[in-house]
Amino acid sequence: MTSSTGLRPAAATVDIEAHLLVLFGATGDLAKRKLIPALYSLMKRRNFDDTTRVLGVATSDLSDDDYREVVRDALIKSGVDEDEAREWCAEVISYQTIKAGFGTLQGRIDEIESGAGLPGNRVFYLAIPPGVFDDTIEGIASVGLHESEGWTRVVVEKPFGVDFESASELNGLLHRWFHEDQIYRIDHYLAKETVQNILVFRFANPIFESSWNRDRIDSVEITVAETLGLEGRASYFDRSGMIRDVVQNHVFQVMTLMAMEPPVRLDSGAIRDEKVKVLRSIYPMTIDGVVRGQYSAGTSDGDIVPGYQDENGIEGESKTETYAALRVCIDNWRWRGVPFYLRAGKRMPERLTQVVVRFKRPPVYLFDGEGACRVHANVMYITLQPDEGFDLRFDVKIPGEGLELTPQSLSFRYGDVFGELPDAYETLIVDFLAGDQTLFVRGDEAEEAWRILEPVIGLDSNPESYEAGSWGPRAAADLITGEGDHWHPQHED
Ligand SMILES: NC(=O)c1ccc[n+]([C@@H]2O[C@H](COP(=O)([O-])OP(=O)(O)OC[C@H]3O[C@@H](n4cnc5c(N)ncnc54)[C@H](OP(=O)(O)O)[C@@H]3O)[C@@H](O)[C@H]2O)c1
Repeated sequence: MTSSTGLRPAAATVDIEAHLLVLFGATGDLAKRKLIPALYSLMKRRNFDDTTRVLGVATSDLSDDDYREVVRDALIKSGVDEDEAREWCAEVISYQTIKAGFGTLQGRIDEIESGAGLPGNRVFYLAIPPGVFDDTIEGIASVGLHESEGWTRVVVEKPFGVDFESASELNGLLHRWFHEDQIYRIDHYLAKETVQNILVFRFANPIFESSWNRDRIDSVEITVAETLGLEGRASYFDRSGMIRDVVQNHVFQVMTLMAMEPPVRLDSGAIRDEKVKVLRSIYPMTIDGVVRGQYSAGTSDGDIVPGYQDENGIEGESKTETYAALRVCIDNWRWRGVPFYLRAGKRMPERLTQVVVRFKRPPVYLFDGEGACRVHANVMYITLQPDEGFDLRFDVKIPGEGLELTPQSLSFRYGDVFGELPDAYETLIVDFLAGDQTLFVRGDEAEEAWRILEPVIGLDSNPESYEAGSWGPRAAADLITGEGDHWHPQHED
C-alpha cells in the first residue's frame, strides 16, 4: 500500500510494508484518545489493515476480547461506527499482559506474525510512563525481540528524560540495542502542518528569507498558551513543570525551525543537522533570563478555577512552575543580538500557539514627527494553532487630509483555503511506518535542548504568582529589552 505525508513530495509515494505494531501502554490515555483513532483512520483511508496487526501490551490482565472492547469503546468515542469498529478489532487487534514476562510476549509475537504471514517487520511503540522505559527496552532486548528477519523500529513518547543526564542515559540504553535510524522520538508538534510549513514559508519564499536575520529582525517571540490546568495529570506535572513539559520540546522545536539555516537537502539528516546547530549556538540559560510563574485562583473559559496549590493531587507547598518566560540568545552569525522570547503557560486567557516576528523599524523616521504620525514595526504573526494562519502587519496612510498611519494586515487562514488540517498522530504513524525520521527528534537534539535548560529546571525558588486567566506574571514584561517591544498576546494589541 502506498501513501505520502510529512515533508515528502506529494508525488513520492511510500510503501507501508506489512508489519506488527506492538503498542506498550495499550490501555492508557494516549493510546485510547490519540493513537488508536489515528491508526484506525489511517488504515481505513490507506487500506493497509490486511497487512497490519496491532498487539496491545499493558500491565492489566485482559484477554484479547477484553482489550478489543477497550479499543472498540475508544473508536466509538472518536466517532467510528460500532459495527465497523468491532469488525476491525476482530481482524487487527490482540492483547498481551506484560506481567507474563517478555518470553511470553515473544511467543505471542511469533504466533501473530506467523498466523498473519507477516515478514517480521516490527514497531515497538512505548506509550508508557517514563519510569518503565528502561525495563521495557531491556526486556525487549533480553529475549532478542530487537532483532528480526524484517526491520525493527522503536517509537519513544515524550518526555525524553527529565534532564541532560537522564536523556543521555536513555540514549545510551537505546543505542545499546538499536541504531539511531531505528529510533523515533516523538514530539507531536513537529507533525503539525503549520509547524512543518515553517520550512516551506522560509525556504520556498525568498522574499521572507532574505529578511530573516539580525539586519532586519528585531526579535522573535514564541508563545504556547493553554487555558487548561492540570486535567488529572497533577502527579506527573508537579514533578515536571512547564519548562520540562513544554519548553524543552514543543517550544524549542518551533524555535529551531524558525532559526535554522537552509538544509542542503530535504532529508531527515540534513534538516536535523541544522536544527542541532541552532541549539549548539545557545549558551546554557541563566536565572536572569527566565521568569517562572504559578497560577493563583481566577477564571478560565468563564469558570472560576482554583489556584495551582489547591488543585486536586497537589500536596504541600509546590514550587513547580505553570508558566515560564525565557529570553534566549542564539549566538551565531545570523541571529547574534536578536532575542528569542519564549513563553509557555497554563491557565492563560486563550489557547494559542503563535510565533511573532518583529522587524526592525525604518532607519529614518520620515513620518514620525509632531502629531499622531507613529510608525509601527512590521510584524509577522504565524499562528500555529488554533485559527492557523499568517498575518503580516504593515503601516498604511489613513486616507484624508494630513498624514496619519495605521497598521493593517495581509492575512491568510488555513481553514479558509484547506478546511480541516490532518491529525498530527496520523502523520507520525505513516512516517515511522515508512521509515522517515524527519519529523522525529534525534538523540543529540534532545540532549542539546536539555543542556541549555539544565540550570533553570526544577528550581527551588518560589515562582511568581499570576491570576488564572491572565497572560502570566508581570515580571515577564521585564524580560523584553527592545525599545517599545512587548509580549504579543493577541492580534489586536
Ligand atoms: N496522554 C497524553 O496526551 C500524552 C501526550 C504526550 C505524551 N504522553 C506520554 O505517553 C506516555 C503514556 O501516557 P498516558 O497518558 O497514556 O499514560 P497513562 O494513561 O497513565 O497510561 C499508561 C499506560 O502504560 C501502561 N503500562 C504501565 N506500565 C507498563 C509496563 N511496564 N509495560 C507495559 N505497559 C505499561 C499502563 O497499563 P495498565 O493501565 O494496564 O497499568 C497504561 O496502559 C507517557 O510517557 C506520557 O508522558 C502522553
